[in-house]
Amino acid sequence: RLPSVHDQRGRGLRDLRISVTDRCNFRCVYCMPKEIFGRDFAFLPKEMLLTFEEIVRVARAGMAHGVHKLRLTGGEPLLRRDIEELVRMLAALRTPEGDKPDIAVTTNGSALAHKAGALREAGLDRVTVSLDSLDDATFRAMNDVDFPLDRVLAGIEAARDAGFETIKINTVVKRGLNDDDVVAIAERFKGTGVTVRFIEFMDVGTTNGWNLEQVVPSAEVIERIGAVHPLEPVPPAYSGETATRWRYRDGDGEIGAISSVTAPFCGACTRARLSADGKLFTCLFAARGHDLRKLLRGGSTDAELEAALAEIWSGRSDNYSEVRSAETAHPRERIEMSYIGG
Ligand code: GTP
Ligand code: 5AD
Ligand code: SF4
Ligand code: SF4
Repeated sequence: RLPSVHDQRGRGLRDLRISVTDRCNFRCVYCMPKEIFGRDFAFLPKEMLLTFEEIVRVARAGMAHGVHKLRLTGGEPLLRRDIEELVRMLAALRTPEGDKPDIAVTTNGSALAHKAGALREAGLDRVTVSLDSLDDATFRAMNDVDFPLDRVLAGIEAARDAGFETIKINTVVKRGLNDDDVVAIAERFKGTGVTVRFIEFMDVGTTNGWNLEQVVPSAEVIERIGAVHPLEPVPPAYSGETATRWRYRDGDGEIGAISSVTAPFCGACTRARLSADGKLFTCLFAARGHDLRKLLRGGSTDAELEAALAEIWSGRSDNYSEVRSAETAHPRERIEMSYIGG
C-alpha cells in the first residue's frame, strides 16, 4: 500500500473539494458580481467538464493517498445534471482502510427542496447551505437575482426531513451589508441542531472588490452573539478544521467562525481542489492549477494518475492566508471562487 503523501510543510492530503460546475443561478455580490458574470460571460463548455467517471478516478487516486473527505462544490453543485448519480458513484469508493468517504455538499440551497431526498438516498452524508441573511430584502440583494429567502429555508427543512443529521449554514459577513443580521441568524438556528458558521469576507478571486474595511473580524461576531447568548469555546473536531467552534452555555448547540483573514489556518491545511474542468489547485488563492484532464484523457493509468497526484502534493508549499498582505490581496491573477467552489 502507498504511504500517504506530505507536502513541503508536512501537511497530508485529507480533503478533496470537487467543483462540478462553474455555473450558478445566484450572483452573490461577494462571489459572482453581475457586472463580471453577465449575459456574455464565458462559462465552461460541456466537453471541458470532467465526466462523473473522470471525477471518480481523481477521487479514487486521492483516496489512495489519504483523502477521506469529499466535498462537492460549484458554482452551484446541484445545478449539475444527475448530481445524485455522482454521489452514488463516490459513495461506493473505499479508503485503503476500507472506510467509506465522508461526502458533503456546499450549496446555495435553491434546489435542495427538490433534491435532498435523492441525494440522501444516494449516500450523501452532510449538507452545508449558504445563507447570508434572514431578512428577505437583504437576502435578495445579496444573491442579486431576487431569489426569495423562503425557498432556501424550505430547502433546509427538506434536508432535515430527508434525514441529514449534520446540516451547517455558511454565512459570509460583509460590513454594512449583513453584519447587523448575525444575532438573528444565530437565534434562528439555536437549539435546532443546525450549526451556523460565520465566515470572514475573503479576498478570493479578483472581481469581488474586496477590501479590509468590509471584513468583520470573527471576534466581533462572536462578541455580538455572546453578549446576548453566552458562549464558550469548543475544541476542534479535527486537526485543520476551518472553523473555530463555540457552544451556547445553555446547551442549545454551537456556532462556528471561519477567520481566514484574522486567524489563518494554513498550518494544517490538507485540502486540494479540483475544478470542473479537471485542474487540481493546491490552494484557494492559487493562480493556476495542474491539468489532470490531460492525463485522464491522454490514456494515463490509475497508477500514473496516483503518481502525478503525489508529485503535485509533495511539491506544495502554499500558505497564502498566512502571508497575505495589502500587496498580495490585489493580484493580477487568481482563480475565482465560483470556479473553484471555495
Ligand atoms: P466542514 O467539512 O464542515 O468542516 O466544511 P468546510 O468548512 O471545510 O467547507 P465549507 O465549504 O463549508 O467552507 C466554509 C468556508 O471556509 C468557505 O467560505 C470556504 O471558502 C472557506 N474555506 C474552506 N477551506 C478553506 C481553505 O482551505 N482556505 C481558506 N482560506 N478558506 C477556506
Ligand atoms: N469570502 C468568504 N466566503 C465566500 N464564499 C463565497 N465567496 C466568498 C468570499 N469572498 C462562501 C460561500 C459558500 C462557501 C463555499 O464560500 O458563501 O458558503
Ligand atoms: Fe453562487 Fe455560492 Fe457564489 Fe453565491 S457564493 S454566487 S451561491 S457559487
Ligand atoms: Fe489552505 Fe491556501 Fe486556504 Fe491557506 S489559504 S488554508 S493554504 S487553501
